[in-house]
Amino acid sequence: MTIGIDQINFYIPQFYVDMADLAEARGVDPNKFLYGIGQTEMAVSPVSQDIVSMGANAAKDIITEDDKQSISMVIVATESAIDSAKASAVQIHNLLGIQPFARCIEMKEACYAATPAIQLAQDYLHQRPDEKVLVIASDTARYGLESGGEPTQGAGAVAMLISHKPRILELNDDAVPFTEDVYDFWRPNGHMYPLVAGKLSKDAYIHSFQESWKEYAKRYNKSLDDFANLCFHVPFTKMGKKALDSILTDEISDETKKRLTEGYEAATYYNRYVGNIYTGSLYLSLISLLETHNLEGGQTIGLFSYGSGSVGEFFTGKLVEGYQDVLDITSHKNLLNERKALTVNEYESFFKRFDNLEFDHETELAHTIPGAFYLENINDHIRSYNTLK
Ligand code: COA
Repeated sequence: MTIGIDQINFYIPQFYVDMADLAEARGVDPNKFLYGIGQTEMAVSPVSQDIVSMGANAAKDIITEDDKQSISMVIVATESAIDSAKASAVQIHNLLGIQPFARCIEMKEACYAATPAIQLAQDYLHQRPDEKVLVIASDTARYGLESGGEPTQGAGAVAMLISHKPRILELNDDAVPFTEDVYDFWRPNGHMYPLVAGKLSKDAYIHSFQESWKEYAKRYNKSLDDFANLCFHVPFTKMGKKALDSILTDEISDETKKRLTEGYEAATYYNRYVGNIYTGSLYLSLISLLETHNLEGGQTIGLFSYGSGSVGEFFTGKLVEGYQDVLDITSHKNLLNERKALTVNEYESFFKRFDNLEFDHETELAHTIPGAFYLENINDHIRSYNTLK
């Protein structure tokens, strides 16, 4: 029985700041951001794009009227929750018009949560051949103005339709998770921004990858030669590269090293221009790989998911013949290319307005794509959404 990713799409806010401009404003050598961290541009969220509107925007173009009748579960993975009780999946379910006899939940474990959401969908669908699950990873990555993590912020959502007979990636039954209690990044209740132990977070990520990869290779008797490419969680593009390099040891052939290194560049192209989108980062990387690299149906992709705290997981999927025809490369390129660049001053005002929930619709909606969902207002802590005409 084959279950996997039938459709995949992303949405990002229509504003960004150039990392060289940000470096200059912070008195940092731009090469630190561009090469040391590996980021070129960073998506900036207006108040009108929260995890609900971004998640619904990522999903709306990949689900048909028939899908709305067959989706029986909506799972939102996020670490930017807007409510501690009500799941954002309920609001997204409403905005998308999905049939009412569905389960809607939100899942949390830092940047990792979309991966157990997909695994849950996979298990759930084994018993339900005619149903589908919508998994959405939606986040606004924020560390604070002039903070250490400032160059690794971003915002965006990835939506995936999980079904039988998927048209993009068949999920194999071979995932290996790895859990380790570590305080590398966390956001205690009431804190607007996370607390981060920067160096520890990089070390914990690499350790988690090495452990899950080593165990995977041992359990399933696999080597790097079995993979066309690997995708990583990408908080910033240098991070996954460090993890990849850590296993490209002397015994690995030059051919494999070259294949995986070139694939990594393709798999982080979109991330380099978006920044960190937390739960969606691995899946944005997968889209980037599929849309900017030449691969073939039948090839195996390895995926490493990581959420601070921490849980990592190595899992794999097989590309489906003709997967290229299902991707909407043109609209993804437009989404990236038609964004408005903000000056650092403008980025700072966006940032403060987002913190204080101060709407400036005239500025924000002028660059929103017609047909997109947006957060219109908040009254008595109740959020109302609308669609741009
Ligand atoms: N030119 C080129 N590279 C430069 C440079 C320059 N002028 N100046 C510094 N660098 C390099 C450093 O050598 C380092 O590379 P390395 O890690 O390969 O050694 C890199 O830029 C980052 O420098 P560092 O001093 O570590 O930066 P920092 O103290 O500002 O912290 C993060 C960087 C990523 C830890 C910080 O942004 C952060 O905390 N981010 C959030 C947490 C996170 O994303 N963790 C990842 C795991 S989930």
